[in-house]
Amino acid sequence: MDILGLVYVPSWLLTFFLFLISLYLYSKYKLSFWKRLGVPHPKPTLFFGHGPLMKDGVGELDLRMLSTYDKVVGLYVFHKASLLVLDPEIVRDVLIKNFSSMPNRTQYFKQKSDLQHSLSRLHGDHWRFMRNTLSPVFATGNMRKISPVLAESCRRLLRNIEDKKNCGNAIEFKQMFGNFSMDAIAALGFGIDLDLYKNENNEFAIRAQAIFNAFKGLGVFLNLLVPPLYNLLVKLGLDLDGQSKHCLYFKRLVEQAKTLRQKDDQNRNDILQLMLNVHNDTEVSDTEQFNSYKDNREEWRKRGLTTNEVNGNSIMFMVAGYETTASALTFTAYCLATNPESQDRLLQEIDSTIGKGVPDYDSIQKMEYLECVVKEALRICPPAQRIMRETCEDLVIAGYTIPKNTEITISTYALHRSPKFWTEPEKYKPERFLAVNKSNLTPYTFLPFGLGPRSCLAMRLAYFEAKCALVTILQKYKFMPCEKTEIPLQLDPKLVLKPKNGVYLTIKER
Ligand code: HEM
Repeated sequence: MDILGLVYVPSWLLTFFLFLISLYLYSKYKLSFWKRLGVPHPKPTLFFGHGPLMKDGVGELDLRMLSTYDKVVGLYVFHKASLLVLDPEIVRDVLIKNFSSMPNRTQYFKQKSDLQHSLSRLHGDHWRFMRNTLSPVFATGNMRKISPVLAESCRRLLRNIEDKKNCGNAIEFKQMFGNFSMDAIAALGFGIDLDLYKNENNEFAIRAQAIFNAFKGLGVFLNLLVPPLYNLLVKLGLDLDGQSKHCLYFKRLVEQAKTLRQKDDQNRNDILQLMLNVHNDTEVSDTEQFNSYKDNREEWRKRGLTTNEVNGNSIMFMVAGYETTASALTFTAYCLATNPESQDRLLQEIDSTIGKGVPDYDSIQKMEYLECVVKEALRICPPAQRIMRETCEDLVIAGYTIPKNTEITISTYALHRSPKFWTEPEKYKPERFLAVNKSNLTPYTFLPFGLGPRSCLAMRLAYFEAKCALVTILQKYKFMPCEKTEIPLQLDPKLVLKPKNGVYLTIKER
């Protein structure tokens, strides 16, 4: 193409140049969001936003923000704006008080997959219906009923730890507890025996991790950088999120479990049975056909769960409970091994409460220090480092008007580790959580499972699982550091917080 008859520029070069200019202007505009609202924020980098500040992980960035800014700070993950809340009272407003204005999480995946139909991805009345339908499975009564199945899973864990010990090597507990958490959720939720321990590279772990890792994949990257392009490519049918193929594996497991229970007529109390009891074969494609859930519960109840919803939720339960519970247990074992006084106090409590008896839901509840031990590990290393919400109307937060559809981020990691709220936050001190010291805690600064109506659905199960596993091991053994134990522990700061190089410990007979 001739420009004013002076120079010849090939049209491909001109198109490329125009594309770069548009991208530049787009980036400039997107990264002026907080400036236009008057919200304080660090200077962003063109295209990357505050990405370069996250090289040590989002948690460490959030902690720096908490020590620098007052109540809120505007951040950009590439071009996606997110308001980071730094003040505990505002945390309460976002998660509890103003819940009806922010009931939803940001959806990073637009691609259709089975997970689209699961509780964690739903919103509005559909979410309310699903949450109320699924909640009973984690009620106290059901925890009591599943005690024997969990105790059996814990015994399998102990046998495998003993096998490794007999080989004389240090035990890598991240993988060991990963196997345990999968074994437990498959047995407790679906009555499936996965027989994981013998298979070092088991498919369940690889696929569950792949579903989580999609958060670091091309789809999310494009969605954060140029959402219109991402939307277009998804509409054209490109598999950018890469979750669908892994969901297929879990779907097959669920189908197997369903077929098995058509054959036996046992009265089960697990997650799958609860969903099958309200399963309705008539597919409901348009969930908006009912009015509000609050006023029309009966209509929603009759609607039941569709096959897609049974499958989607089953996959979500298997994936959501795997890495989080494994990390929580691994960090607790590490903290006990490296803090022998805390471990000794816990051993005394176990001995005086249940001795060598089989732990069940009620005996576990009697151990106050056990609860403190797990909580303190979750404080220092919260597996979910951030909690997200999205405004569904314009809202005034900390004096700034935040428009509808803006992401609000709460950093568990920063709130848990800030010296503003904790004395000696880097030290492992389970005593902080004893009832006698409760008045020293700052409200809304400890939230490993989130808070409010959209907090973790399975918190009770997660605590029960972790405590039961610890008691089963500690009735016989102590955790001990060894040559391969990293002190201090290096963390992998990506999505779910986990040890970077695993956690190697030994066990010693008591
Ligand atoms: C130590 C283990 C666990 C931790 C630290 C954890 C943490 C969390 C967090 C932080 C959230 C988001 C809360 C919010 O947005 O306010 C969440 C949501 C959720 N978790 Fe967990 N979780 C754990 C174990 C489990 C297990 C074992 C399951 C299932 C068997 C599970 C199922 C869910 C579900 C379904 C949601 C979504 C709830 C909703 O959107 O209504 N979690 N979890």
